[in-house]
Amino acid sequence: MRILVLGGGGREHAIVHKLAQSPMAPEILVAPGNGGTASIAVNVSGLRIESPGDVAAFALDNAIDLVVIGPEGPLVAGVADAVEAVGIRVFGPSASAARMEGSKEFAKDVMRRHGLPAGASEAFTEVAPALAYLDRVGAPVVIKADGLAAGKGVTVAVTAEEAEAAVRECLDGRFGEAGATVLIEEYLVGPECSLLAFTDGVTVLPMVPAQDHKRAFDGDTGPNTGGMGVYSPVPVVDAATLVEMERLLERTVEGLRSDGILYRGVLYGGFILTDQGPKLLEFNARFGDPETQVILPRMETDLLEVMFAVAEGRLADVVLSWREERAVSVVIASGGYPGDYGSGKRITGVEAAEALPGVTVYHAGTTRTDGELVSAGGRVLNVTAIAPTFATARDRAYEAVRLISFEGSFSRSDIAVRALADGEG
Ligand code: GLY
Repeated sequence: MRILVLGGGGREHAIVHKLAQSPMAPEILVAPGNGGTASIAVNVSGLRIESPGDVAAFALDNAIDLVVIGPEGPLVAGVADAVEAVGIRVFGPSASAARMEGSKEFAKDVMRRHGLPAGASEAFTEVAPALAYLDRVGAPVVIKADGLAAGKGVTVAVTAEEAEAAVRECLDGRFGEAGATVLIEEYLVGPECSLLAFTDGVTVLPMVPAQDHKRAFDGDTGPNTGGMGVYSPVPVVDAATLVEMERLLERTVEGLRSDGILYRGVLYGGFILTDQGPKLLEFNARFGDPETQVILPRMETDLLEVMFAVAEGRLADVVLSWREERAVSVVIASGGYPGDYGSGKRITGVEAAEALPGVTVYHAGTTRTDGELVSAGGRVLNVTAIAPTFATARDRAYEAVRLISFEGSFSRSDIAVRALADGEG
């Protein structure tokens, strides 16, 4: 059994780590992988993972049984379609289904047509009508580039001036083709929460909810990042709200199917819990990063079995089970992130950290140089602890963080404080 995983971040290390525990004992190749995946799988360098033809040819040449696509880029580029076309199973949606992440306007249109609750929004390709709309709706308001903009295409504009500047920046080409259309969206208030589900396009099996921390510094201050820490479950989400969120994911998959789109893979719902109930902020077409680093450690079911069931359209045969324990993950980042940062810094203490009970250190931006582990990205490590209570999981994660060092590193000190405040859930 040979599996090819595409991607090289903390999400992919968590996926590979979980797949490596499968009773099917797969041989795992990862392209490009990182310093963490190197010790449990074979890292493949030089494969252009956003090239559908290259990935399909590699999978054929290497007798791959299943291709697992981690990041959104290859999905939107059509890698899943190309792999399927050569008769190899693939975990990840087709290019037409991945538009749920690749085009925010496409996703909004799905939400509108299928009556899924979300903030009001309008899309524009010209500055003048966009500014006229802004005049009508006022601030605060959210400005989004339509396409994939490497996590940088969203501005929460508090004033009309900020909103106008964000609209102009987007339509003037700051995000290239991804910003050729701009969305102006209603600003919604409430706690945010991610809920992901496995789906084969018919059956939808929700995972457990997770809460990301997007700002760089404590107290949710500083610039937006790819995520500085995460926890699961999410105590602020009560049982009735969770059922509503699960139902919204089911209705999304049903709606897409009625549009002629069979969505297979992970559907990621970004929710906001408003006074009127949960509303959808966005969809992603893949596992979240860093959400995966707390979701998969809580998953008891064999991930490989689930992935094959998704790829073969027989998810109805699968029952997911989850550990009751709480999981907390703290990101250790390079100084300067999300702006400019250095790399090649020698990292120490990872083994000592992993010797603590319930602790796993997922690598996000590392590589091995002359046998030494060094930093190779903005987010470097995801230090994850799982324990019976949030208090213990948090203490263990931070004890582990304190054992790890590299020059210029930083992390937030308040990950999962909100979970403690909201109760055990
Ligand atoms: N944690 C946000 C994302 O994966 O897009």
